[in-house]
Amino acid sequence: MNYRHIYHAGNFADVMKHALLLRLLAAMQRKAKPFLVLDTHAGIGRYDVTSVEAEKTGEWREGVGKILANPPPALAEYVQTVQRLGLYPGSPVFAAEALRPEDRLVASELHPADAATLRRTMRPYAHASVHERDGYEALNAFLPPPEKRALVLIDPPFERIDEFSALAKTLAAAWKKFPSAVFVIWYPIKHRAPVRAFFEALKLAGIKDVIAAEFLRRPDTDTARLNGAGLGLINPPYGFEQEAAPILQACVEAFGEAGASAAIERIINE
Ligand SMILES: C[S@@+](CC[C@H](N)C(=O)[O-])C[C@H]1O[C@@H](n2cnc3c(N)ncnc32)[C@H](O)[C@@H]1O
Repeated sequence: MNYRHIYHAGNFADVMKHALLLRLLAAMQRKAKPFLVLDTHAGIGRYDVTSVEAEKTGEWREGVGKILANPPPALAEYVQTVQRLGLYPGSPVFAAEALRPEDRLVASELHPADAATLRRTMRPYAHASVHERDGYEALNAFLPPPEKRALVLIDPPFERIDEFSALAKTLAAAWKKFPSAVFVIWYPIKHRAPVRAFFEALKLAGIKDVIAAEFLRRPDTDTARLNGAGLGLINPPYGFEQEAAPILQACVEAFGEAGASAAIERIINE
């Protein structure tokens, strides 16, 4: 486990993921019934972008750093949340801050040091619990939840070369256990083939109602680079596509290079 999110926190892919996550949390809260957020690869929850590690890559300067002073309207809610929370928030902090007292957050993080840091970060949030365990295992352990509603964020580091296929396999099992959850899967776009194969595997598993929301910073031709990022969603909340479109477009305008694009595509029908 070499991946540490501190080197990447607040980069363009985090901006896109976290801005969309805020919309998903709001969508879940349109219903009064409580729900579980299961964050399978949670990270440390707060990131100091002035740290040596973050400054080493400087990725945040090309991401959230670019829009802090003058955010595009579609990213204003996200930027305000970041500014209100101080240190750059990770997904469990965005979620815990948004949740109502009746909602619940379960966060799993496998890296022992990061899990310990996350546990300290999440201490103020009474409705959050942190588990030092494998995120794929957590899917099996915590689904279906007693609340009967769940938003499941799966955000692996993609260090393993078989991450896409491990993801598809585990997701198929989790979906069988709890098919009504809103599953949100972050994925990197270096080139198209692995993404296509991943969605094909979901189709073969019989999973329904899948969309992909993607932002390409540049055309995905140089396969050695992170050219863009996507969120795959199973059971996207009603109206999500309309809310996501201006956020993705704002990413194109703020972070895009020549040939940048955004797309929301239906992959599997309901
Ligand atoms: C991309 S980062 C997560 C970022 C976080 N979701 C956010 O948006 O703020 C991936 C995290 O997964 C952790 N990780 C790696 N393998 C894992 C596994 N098998 N189960 C759970 N966590 C894992 C890494 O230590 C890292 O902190």
